[in-house]
Amino acid sequence: MSNLRRPAELSPTLDVSGLVDADGGLLDRAIFTDQTIYQQELRRVFAPSWLFLAHTSQFTKPGDFFTTYLGEDPVIVAMDKTRRIRAYLNSCRHRGARVCRADFGTAKAFTCTYHGWAYDVAGTLISVPNQAGYPESFDTGDWGLVEVPQVDSYNGLIFGTWNPQAPSLREALGEMTWYMDAMLDHDGQGTEAVGGVHKWVLEGNWKLAAEQFATDWYHVNMSHASALMALSPTGKGPREEIVHRSGRQYADPNGHGAGFPVHPKNRFDAQPVHQWFDYAAARERLGEAQVEGPLTNGHATVFPNFSYLPVNGSIRIWHPKGPDRMEVWAWTLVDRSMPDEVKEAQRLYNLRTFGPSGIFEQDDGENWSEVQAISRGFVTNRTPLNYQMGLGSERDDGRYPGTTSELYSDAAGRAFYRRWQSLMNTSAWHEENT
Ligand code: FES
Ligand SMILES: [Fe+2]
Repeated sequence: MSNLRRPAELSPTLDVSGLVDADGGLLDRAIFTDQTIYQQELRRVFAPSWLFLAHTSQFTKPGDFFTTYLGEDPVIVAMDKTRRIRAYLNSCRHRGARVCRADFGTAKAFTCTYHGWAYDVAGTLISVPNQAGYPESFDTGDWGLVEVPQVDSYNGLIFGTWNPQAPSLREALGEMTWYMDAMLDHDGQGTEAVGGVHKWVLEGNWKLAAEQFATDWYHVNMSHASALMALSPTGKGPREEIVHRSGRQYADPNGHGAGFPVHPKNRFDAQPVHQWFDYAAARERLGEAQVEGPLTNGHATVFPNFSYLPVNGSIRIWHPKGPDRMEVWAWTLVDRSMPDEVKEAQRLYNLRTFGPSGIFEQDDGENWSEVQAISRGFVTNRTPLNYQMGLGSERDDGRYPGTTSELYSDAAGRAFYRRWQSLMNTSAWHEENT
């Protein structure tokens, strides 16, 4: 039993009804800059939501672990002796140091380097130096690492949530799974992560990246003009090639979003991948709508902060690091069935385009930092932003699951912020008794 009681005033709560007008397509820029809003996001958006942790291929034997974050909370993801993947708060129950400071590896136990408390890979406290110095009431069974109550995976992607009452992962993903399957389920053999995890810091609010990946095909021709020119075999600009392409954008009620050009000849950009891939078999397994659309191209965000790009197998998480900063962690996914040289071609293509110094990634990061850098100005901050493209165009068109809009649209952005607003204005499970 604990006599500790945290006063509610420690966590002031703002009503954000006036900061997002999802129906009208307007946003107040305070949501990108305000510290109180940021703290509320950690409590009400990140803590209650399913967040991406790792890929299943990162764990092959008991003791394999990977350290990451859920929101700003450090966590260890580990395979226990029964081969179950579990996750724990990476913070010692004694004085709070991280008990594992490695990025990944294999361990029998995690020993805190401060005073030496040690925990096994199931998070149980197994050793306390000078345990005789503690009162009789001290029971190591009470002082294991705090476990993430729900961890689950979908087609190789492991997610976790601190919310014991959260609906299942499958339910939270809803119809977004159809769009995810187009990248994750080509042939029933699944995917694997290759080449490690790239990590870099950007001076921008995490939502700028997450919403762009949910909704924004619009920036491609302008922001990435030179990159598209460099990739084009003719060296010509992208205009005639891409600007008129038709496509769809998916807007999910839980805030997820995906957009993709639709073309019967959609293809992977990396030649070895394109040549190896069996489009006919994929059509058979998935269907025409997935193959001509989200299989090979486009962008997507699983709310709140996990995004991916089918064209190169890039998956990434936008870790929040304060209102002004995010840390990007990016993996390359390949099909398990690919021969090694095709996997390598995909990895290299991803690095060239969307690695930390990739020709597209550089453009995007520059835009987010630019938007963030000026948004603290008093007048700037009060000047609303426009998310009105495709307003009223959302419909169920019968070909793609759920509500879709035009490719060039802010529909998924509006859905993203509608969901964000709803979570921000709703008490989370941990507030119910306070
Ligand atoms: S902080 Fe971990 S043993 Fe003291
Ligand atoms: Fe981009």
